[in-house]
Amino acid sequence: MKKYFSTRIINRVIPLCVVVLLPFNKVLAQTKTEDTKMNVFVTGLINKMTIDEKIGQLNLVTIGAATTGSVVNKGVEDKIKKGAIGGVFGIWGADKVKEVQDLATKSTRLHIPLIFGLDVIHGHRTIFPIPLGLSASWDMGLIKRSAQIAAKEATAEGLNWVYSPMVDIARDARWGRISEGSGEDPWYGSQVAKAMIQGYQGSSMKNADAVMACVKHFALYGGAEAGREYNTVDMSRIKMYQDYLPPYRAAVDAGAGSFMSSFNTIDGVPATGNQWLLTDVLRKQWGFKGFVVSDYTAVNEMEAHGLGDLQMVSALALKAGLDMDMVGEGFLTTLKKSLAEGKVTKQEIDLACRRVLEAKYKLGLFDNPYKSIDATRETKDVLTPENRSEARNISKHSFVLLKNSAQTLPLKKTGSIALVGPLANNQRDMLGTWVVAGDWEKSISVMQGIKNLVGNGVTINYAKGANITEDSSFIQRLNFFGQQMVTVDKKPADELLNEAVEAAKKSDVIVAVVGESQSMSGESSSRADIDIPESQKNMLKALAKTGKPLVIVLFNGRPLTLTWEDEHASAILDVWAPGTEAGNAIADVLFGDYNPAGKITATFPRSVGQIPIYYNHKNTGRPYDGKGPSKFKSNYLDISNDPLYPFGYGLSYTTFGYSDVKLNKTKLKGTETLTATVTVTNTGKYAGEEVVQLYISDPVASISRSVKELKNFKKINLQPGEQKEVSFNITPEELKFYNTQLKYDWEPGKFIVQIGTNSSDTHSASVQWDK
Ligand code: NOJ
Repeated sequence: MKKYFSTRIINRVIPLCVVVLLPFNKVLAQTKTEDTKMNVFVTGLINKMTIDEKIGQLNLVTIGAATTGSVVNKGVEDKIKKGAIGGVFGIWGADKVKEVQDLATKSTRLHIPLIFGLDVIHGHRTIFPIPLGLSASWDMGLIKRSAQIAAKEATAEGLNWVYSPMVDIARDARWGRISEGSGEDPWYGSQVAKAMIQGYQGSSMKNADAVMACVKHFALYGGAEAGREYNTVDMSRIKMYQDYLPPYRAAVDAGAGSFMSSFNTIDGVPATGNQWLLTDVLRKQWGFKGFVVSDYTAVNEMEAHGLGDLQMVSALALKAGLDMDMVGEGFLTTLKKSLAEGKVTKQEIDLACRRVLEAKYKLGLFDNPYKSIDATRETKDVLTPENRSEARNISKHSFVLLKNSAQTLPLKKTGSIALVGPLANNQRDMLGTWVVAGDWEKSISVMQGIKNLVGNGVTINYAKGANITEDSSFIQRLNFFGQQMVTVDKKPADELLNEAVEAAKKSDVIVAVVGESQSMSGESSSRADIDIPESQKNMLKALAKTGKPLVIVLFNGRPLTLTWEDEHASAILDVWAPGTEAGNAIADVLFGDYNPAGKITATFPRSVGQIPIYYNHKNTGRPYDGKGPSKFKSNYLDISNDPLYPFGYGLSYTTFGYSDVKLNKTKLKGTETLTATVTVTNTGKYAGEEVVQLYISDPVASISRSVKELKNFKKINLQPGEQKEVSFNITPEELKFYNTQLKYDWEPGKFIVQIGTNSSDTHSASVQWDK
């Protein structure tokens, strides 16, 4: 037993059917009966509980793995036996989980089961692309599937609660956690949130292969000033409601079972103790019925925010609507005293306890605390060939072709390639930022993937060419917790570089696998400079001079500044961090077995000085005219306002032609529906998929509106020469926005409908829409 309670730090990288068939009133009646049964059960249990036992349910501890702070819990075994713990995270595996669950169900007075959580973020054992990459697939079916597989694998190892999805909108690529979300757009982020929750929770959280989702980080965590991790967030209410809160709201509507409060302040009050946020918005405005857990020691951190001592901030958090305290044990150690001193009430403690117990009830843990503890499933359901094959498919759908001059890609399956770069023959960095249970030794390197696909047909001339970075203090920070995340070749940089150049000289084409290593993005991994590190860039410069076609396979947990690369490389394939099947998926795309169709969901700046940069910005009173810097306009003297790659951008091996936009009417009234149609033609030589995107602009309104907003998209598949009509139905719902009274409504007037291949390249048509 003891072995699970040691302070182990594992490889954590810090970072309807029934419903459709039943008539609505029957579903409602069934839900009511379920709710009534749950209320009767939970009330009965609460009535039997002592105040200590109730407070115990609010205490979440870690058993060592997945530590994301400096505090780790002690004396866990004894605390579980005393009923002083409601949930644990940091362990997985049927035997281990069973042993810990036994302590709760066999040694405590009331036998209340524990809830077992973990950071299952982009897969559990079979690792999928990092979320930013996954979102670039624009395929909700695949995104949901990745969550379903993660849930199946996680439950096969005894877990029932995952700290995902992260739905924080992020518009600052310096922030390392941009890798864990779905980019900058609130509407798109809402679709992903919904798909993930459906995937995790399934038709019922009671199912043996379903987990409870935990939506994070509530709220606005992605708005950290200067992209600096854990930094202050400050924005207007309109901006919150319009641009940052929608994905959290969508998650509530999708039935998410739990939420995690964020580390940052909102209007000066830490989210973890913010009553407006946790109670008024989340519960009263949106009707959330689940429970809220704090982020890692976020209650204690309210002391550093300047809100008082541990007793004060713990009381504040409880009163604000926080139900469970992660790791810091402020609730455990102070709430009883606060109750005695009248600083919190028994009702407040009961309410938080009720919500935690309800979660356990919804998961079916009271019926069977061992429901997902089944040693046979561990061997049957985890990292199976089927899961790996789905991961390969999902990974290739996440890749984005950023450049492809002279049709350098796809590569021929004959001849020779110089395979160079620190990520070319590397397994560890394939997995990406949030990998707690994933085993990098099970991942496929790019070199291996190419060999698997083309065998001896292609001669591979390999050279490492460069270290990830030559900056020793940076390497030290990347190797956090004493782990060897980055291995450095001791050879001098020049020697490494010359080997790559020699490999290039004897090859037909260069494939340079470069970019960010695993620990360069994710939690606590903000960067002020988002270029490819210098050592790798020097290698790319030397390779470009050989005159051989240069293909960059880019690993990145965030948009990078790629101005030089865009000018000098022949092709750039952005693969993010693709997960377990990385090499196989990359080979499929490089050699044309799959035609890439991903589109970026976060704008790529030209320079870090343009940040924050996002497509749905305001016009300003002196808008940039798109023609380069000009005096007394909202622009820079030294750089264009345009991004390097705009939101929604991504190429294909084929090309697509768009017709003008046809509207079924140009004058509408009230709740009429507008239909906007384009014809898309595959004008190239390959079959391919295209993400057809719909944006709407509202040029005259009571507040200054974003220049355009994404409202819908359709992903289509076209054979060479094939044409398809793509239509979008638009109702006043798509015209609504939050006004100065925070009322969500639309205003009559002119609207511009834009349809195209990315947020900058669209065809448009106008309508007049009156109330
Ligand atoms: C801190 C992170 O912010 C959060 O996303 C994660 O779920 C917790 N640590 C638990 O590991």
